[in-house]
Amino acid sequence: MSKPAARVIDLPCEHTSALVALLESVGFDVDVTTDPVASDANVRVWFLNMELPDIDLAGLIKTASQDGTAEIILMADEDDAPQVRQAIAQGATYFFCKPFDVDFLQPLLADVFEEARQTVVLDEDQDIEPLDQFGELRGSSAKMRKLYRLLRKVAPTDTSVLLLGESGTGKELVARTLHQMSDVAQGPFMAMNCAAIPEELFESELFGHEKGSFSGAERRHAGFFERAQGGTLFFDELAEMPIELQAKLLRVLEVGAYRRVGGEADLQSNVRIIGATNRDPERAIADNLLREDLYYRIARFPIQLPALREREGDVAGLTQFFIDAHNEKNSQSITLSAAALEQLEQHSWPGNVRELRSAVEQAYILADGEILPEHLPKNDALAGSGDLKISVGESIDEAQRKLILATLEANGDDKQAAADMLGMSLRTLYNRLNEYEEDGASGNPEDETG
Ligand SMILES: Nc1ncnc2c1ncn2[C@@H]1O[C@H](COP(=O)(O)OP(=O)(O)OP(=O)(O)O)[C@@H](O)[C@H]1O
Ligand SMILES: [Mg+2]
Repeated sequence: MSKPAARVIDLPCEHTSALVALLESVGFDVDVTTDPVASDANVRVWFLNMELPDIDLAGLIKTASQDGTAEIILMADEDDAPQVRQAIAQGATYFFCKPFDVDFLQPLLADVFEEARQTVVLDEDQDIEPLDQFGELRGSSAKMRKLYRLLRKVAPTDTSVLLLGESGTGKELVARTLHQMSDVAQGPFMAMNCAAIPEELFESELFGHEKGSFSGAERRHAGFFERAQGGTLFFDELAEMPIELQAKLLRVLEVGAYRRVGGEADLQSNVRIIGATNRDPERAIADNLLREDLYYRIARFPIQLPALREREGDVAGLTQFFIDAHNEKNSQSITLSAAALEQLEQHSWPGNVRELRSAVEQAYILADGEILPEHLPKNDALAGSGDLKISVGESIDEAQRKLILATLEANGDDKQAAADMLGMSLRTLYNRLNEYEEDGASGNPEDETG
């Protein structure tokens, strides 16, 4: 294989020659052109000048992102927010104004170059390598390394970030990792699960309330904004937030101040915002689930998390990682057979890392020294393997409860997949789970952690 290459789409000028020199010093083969042709697997970094006349940016990004792992870097003479936002949504990774910040670009490019070289070596290696780790995330695939680079860039800024990705791809872990690597890491991390909060409590949960502001408000209550002050506020399942509240939230984000329910004083909000959804935002907007203006406000920096099936090599690495963790916890030394590994590699993992983790957990329990294919959950049966015992005389509520809990378990606790299978909305599922929790212990349905 030949040397990793970089392609610069620009009119040659002093900035271009400085950039070419930098790329060459890192090791890349560089070509500068105003007329980009086909995509080329060897090209690991694309620099696109957004200001070239007649440039078809969308088409270029499509070409450049064809193999999904190249870095697409936009250059412009000045900050052009709407266009940049759109390009980033289409797959560009970074945006820089000329002249370039060499201190930032140099290590980034060196990293990309090193990775491109290693990929060649790794392909020939049969052993399961220990996984790269970034914050709480694990994975060594090119897609994950690209994600790490992105997180490294965005973490120390105060830009709001929207995490997009299928269920189980690690959105919550990424949110925590962003917080840990941010300038507000010493502050609190508050996660608000927008699907889990009953609609009538939303406003007071978000902004807090004063004593006596509504019947039942016996004490002053600090909302998420107040408790996350000086830290990060993570809106999980953002598209499940009631739409009228989205308007209120947007106002607070724009103005930077809010009031407790029943309160008079304006409180300043100083929080870093991260959102997440496993819906396609365009569709959620079209379906009137997500306000477009709120989307644009939070998605200043949209990050698409790769599905597990796109992360070559990571199924093996993560499997070994989960087995190691169980071994350590149980002081055992269970191993993985080649046949079981092959079966895991064949699966398409619609439930992503969460599904893999629960498959490994199940196999680990069944295995006797070595995990064999028969210990793995049957893929197609994963959903329907559990029979449900319902007896005559039981209430419909009780039967529903059993069905919901069993479906959830069969889906490895993936609530979206369970809701889809049950034919109910995610919000309804959460409402039911809240009820069950209240019936049971005096559990707190909020998902919050510090
Ligand atoms: N890169 C990763 N490395 C290690 N563990 C991971 C990774 N990604 C996900 N996991 C594990 O998979 C599970 C699901 O992750 P997480 O809850 O962050 O997913 P999610 O994208 O928020 O899913 P959902 O949309 O269903 O809420 C967690 O147990 C998490 O620890
Ligand atoms: Mg989640």
